[in-house]
Amino acid sequence: MKIRRVNAVSPDSGVIAAAAQLLRDGGLVAFPTETVYGLGANATKADAVQKIYDAKGRPAYNPIIVHVASIDAAKGLVTQWNDAADRLAKAFWPGPLTLVLPKKPVIPDIVTAGSPTVGVRVPSHPVAQALLRACECPVAAPSANRSTMLSPTTGAHVEHSLADAVDMILDCGPTPVGIESTVVDVSSETPAVLRPGMITRSELEAVVGPVREHRSSTPETGVLRAPGMMSVHYAPRARLMLVDAGDIARVAHDLGQSSDAARVGVLTITQHVESIGSMRVIRLPDTAIDYAKRLYAVLHELDAVGCDTILVEPPPHSEEWVAIRDRLSRAAARHE
Ligand code: TXA
Ligand code: MG
Repeated sequence: MKIRRVNAVSPDSGVIAAAAQLLRDGGLVAFPTETVYGLGANATKADAVQKIYDAKGRPAYNPIIVHVASIDAAKGLVTQWNDAADRLAKAFWPGPLTLVLPKKPVIPDIVTAGSPTVGVRVPSHPVAQALLRACECPVAAPSANRSTMLSPTTGAHVEHSLADAVDMILDCGPTPVGIESTVVDVSSETPAVLRPGMITRSELEAVVGPVREHRSSTPETGVLRAPGMMSVHYAPRARLMLVDAGDIARVAHDLGQSSDAARVGVLTITQHVESIGSMRVIRLPDTAIDYAKRLYAVLHELDAVGCDTILVEPPPHSEEWVAIRDRLSRAAARHE
C-alpha cells in the first residue's frame, strides 16, 4: 500500500520508521508540511535527488529546498550563519520560511542546480518533524506535483499526480497553511524575498530590518533564483482568468451562454454572483489566511470536475494577500 494515512497528533511510529528507512535507502517519500506536500529524497545522495527531477519532470536549473528538523541541523548544511539568518530562524522556525545561504559540500550540486547557495527550511508539521527526526538525513523536497502544475494540499492530490513515481505517500489530510513557504535570500547584505508566502515582508522586517522586495522582472544570472522566474507555475489545467469583481457576473454570464455552463468555475470573495445553470460558483473566505488554506484544494476540485475556465475575483491589494495574488497571477499568465 503506497498511501499511508497518518495521524498528525501522534504519527504512527512504525509508518514513520518505514518512511525514514525508504529515504535513507534513496527512495522517494511524499509527506505533509504545513504549507503543501513535499516530494522527499535524501538530500546527501545525488542519485536519490535525481529521482525527484525525473518524477516531477522538473527542469535541471530549478533548485530544491532542503528540510531539516532543527536550527542546529540547518546550521550543519551552510558555511555562513549570519545575524539575519539567526534572527529569522529563531522568529519563524519551525514554520513556512525558507532561508537561502551558502552551502556546504555535504549538499550535492544537483540539489541547488549548481548554485553555491542552498534553500533550507525547518517545517512545523508534526508528521514532517517526526519523519525528519527519524531519518537523520536532510531531506530535499519540492512540492509533490508534476512541474508547472498545482501544488498538492492533500495526499489524494499527490496520488493523483505522482502515484507511479513515489515509494510512499504519508497522508495527513489538508495542510494548514495551503500555499508554499516565503523564500528569503539571506546570503547577501540586505535580505531579499525571492518568493512571497504567508509570512509577509513586514513580519520579516520587524525581525531583521529592511528586506528587499521580490521582483520577478529582475534579471538574474546563473541559476533560477526563485520559482517566480518560471512563468508557468502553480497553474490548474483549466484556463484561469482574473476578472474584476464588477465584471464577474457579465463575463460569467457570457461564458455560460457561449459554452457549457458546467465547465465554468467562479471564485469570489465578496461579490454575489448568480449561478447560471450548472455553473460552479464558489465563495472563498475573506481573510487571507483562510483563503490560502482553501485555494489550491478548490482549484484541484474544479480541474477534477472538468472545468475549462475559472474566473477569479482579484483579492485585495493589502500586504497579507501578496502571496495569494502572486500565485493567482502566475496561474493566469500561463494561459495568456
Ligand atoms: O513550502 C514550500 O516551500 C514547499 C514545501 C514542500 O516545503 N516546497 C516548495 O518547493 O514549494 P518548490 O521546489 O516547489 O519551490 C521552491 C523554490 C524553488 O522553485 C526555487 O526557485 C527556490 O525555492 N529555491 C530553492 N533553493 C534555492 C536556492 N538555492 N536559491 C534560490 N532559490 C531557491
Ligand atoms: Mg513547486
